[in-house]
Amino acid sequence: MSATDKIVLVTGANKGIGLEIAKQLASLQGHHVLIGSRDAERGVEAAESLGLPNVEPLTIDVSSDASIASAAELIKSKYGRLDILINNAGILQDIQGGPPTRARFEETFSVNAFGAALTTEALIPLLEQSSAARVVFVSSDLGSLTFRADPEGRNVDIPAVVYRSSKAAMNMIALAYAARFRERGWKVNVHNPGWTKTDLNYNRGTGTVEDAAKGAVRLALLGPDGETGTYSEKEGVIPW
Ligand SMILES: NC(=O)c1ccc[n+]([C@@H]2O[C@H](COP(=O)([O-])OP(=O)(O)OC[C@H]3O[C@@H](n4cnc5c(N)ncnc54)[C@H](OP(=O)(O)O)[C@@H]3O)[C@@H](O)[C@H]2O)c1
Repeated sequence: MSATDKIVLVTGANKGIGLEIAKQLASLQGHHVLIGSRDAERGVEAAESLGLPNVEPLTIDVSSDASIASAAELIKSKYGRLDILINNAGILQDIQGGPPTRARFEETFSVNAFGAALTTEALIPLLEQSSAARVVFVSSDLGSLTFRADPEGRNVDIPAVVYRSSKAAMNMIALAYAARFRERGWKVNVHNPGWTKTDLNYNRGTGTVEDAAKGAVRLALLGPDGETGTYSEKEGVIPW
């Protein structure tokens, strides 16, 4: 790899939308992509499945402070900086049915909200070493307060209170980082991949991972005049 290659980390990249985001970014010249996976073996297999020279697995469980810290340490010792962070790891337990228990809230927030925040926090010193830091939060339109507040809004029939609230929290976390680093020129944005066929929803989604990844990839590659602090999907901006 060249010294000018962008160093990219995608969390939860051993499958689904994360793996596709990693693939699309790694297919571009000048990008070295770390395939984040909470399970080391799944990360190795996913990186190998891409058959690309510029990808490597990185073990990171975003619900574990120790795992986040060792991943950050490894990136620091190998590359000394991070240019693009995609907070993609996520879980959707509501789809299993049953009531929204304390355990479900804690586990879901631990990955979708706190995991994304604490991964970003741990990687700030490395993003500060980048000349053009980009952070993408892979959220969901189910986190939109505006859609939920409208009785005729999008996805009205999906309760999913745990997942919805974890993604709404993620959106606020993203906005906090966008505001914090706006003056420094960082681009921090939120992406809705849309209802996509992956293990998250037992493959009930209708969209493809190829389409779902496009918006995140675009936000990862924004130039100096690109937007920050936005919530969008591939068709355009959506309301908070
Ligand atoms: N699919 C959709 O329709 C849809 C719609 C809107 C938003 N999204 C969002 O898109 C993102 C990707 O979802 P997906 O559909 O690609 O789902 P997926 O195929 O189930 O992939 C989720 C990824 O997150 C990883 N993950 C789960 N817990 C983790 C943890 N504690 N630490 C690190 N990684 C963890 C999973 O790892 P394991 O393989 O080890 O479980 C997996 O790699 C999620 O944030 C999701 O909320 C998806």
